[in-house]
Amino acid sequence: MDNYFDIINLTHRYADGTVALNNLSLTIGKGKKIALLGNNGAGKSTLFLHLNGILEPSSGTIQFNGTKMKHDRKSLFHLRKQVNIVFQDPDSQLFSSNVLQDISFGPLNLNLSQEEVLRRVEWAMQQTEVEQFKHKPTHFLSLGQKKRVAIAGVLAMDPDVFILDEPTAGLDAYFSKQIMNVLDLIHGPNKTIILSTHDVNLAYEWADEIIVMNDGEIIYTGDPISIFRKNHLVQQAHLEKPWILETFDELLQGKQLSSNVEVPRRKEELYTLIKKVEITV
Ligand SMILES: Nc1ncnc2c1ncn2[C@@H]1O[C@H](COP(=O)(O)OP(=O)(O)OP(=O)(O)O)[C@@H](O)[C@H]1O
Ligand SMILES: [Mg+2]
Repeated sequence: MDNYFDIINLTHRYADGTVALNNLSLTIGKGKKIALLGNNGAGKSTLFLHLNGILEPSSGTIQFNGTKMKHDRKSLFHLRKQVNIVFQDPDSQLFSSNVLQDISFGPLNLNLSQEEVLRRVEWAMQQTEVEQFKHKPTHFLSLGQKKRVAIAGVLAMDPDVFILDEPTAGLDAYFSKQIMNVLDLIHGPNKTIILSTHDVNLAYEWADEIIVMNDGEIIYTGDPISIFRKNHLVQQAHLEKPWILETFDELLQGKQLSSNVEVPRRKEELYTLIKKVEITV
């Protein structure tokens, strides 16, 4: 079994009649780093809420590990040990009276030993740098602090599928980088990380697969380079070309690089190429 999720013809219609997902099919493989892109209202959050069973399909099916997802209490309890989500809005996530209790809540429900719970919670707090306010009520925290506490709570659960809905929105540059480093640290052959973002640079550099949604449908799945060369899709999904690719394409166009050079994904790779370019002023 190579996939965590097999989604087949999924449609979601909200109570007011809005069709947020329209006959969407998608597989989510094991060990992937996936970025979900798409304009406001494309259906990204709605899709995520189906993956851990908060929303039920209006039609279509979702299989997890090859078995059709069920929505009774027991099935959902089992699913949520393996699939966890950091919501777009941290206020939807945090409900305990202080930070420490909030982060501990998930792992306490996993039948782990007390030492293991403590170890996970300490580690998650370190990674997100929230220890200094661990006794503070969550409602007094700033948006970015709340977001980090919400991320810590899911980190401590150690799910197989870690879903993050716009994790870096509201975080400063330092903490955005810190969170992305943690995601790289925990990623592995059996751990899939899927995040939505409006930051095309982050998606381009980090993801090994990109999914683009528009109007409840998927308009692209594939590698992070090809999507940004398809101008009509880029426009349709309100995207911009990542700066690394933009700079590289400029150098290609000016014939400063030969077309058989490998396309850089990280800024260090681009800088190495630039150092080889002969600049004529
Ligand atoms: N509870 C709801 N009731 C009715 N319509 C809803 C509800 N939640 C979302 N929608 C609608 O469903 C569509 C998809 O919304 P969704 O939040 O999934 O988009 P998104 O891609 O996550 O957008 P964003 O980038 O702004 O977070 C939108 O048209 C939205 O207005
Ligand atoms: Mg959203």
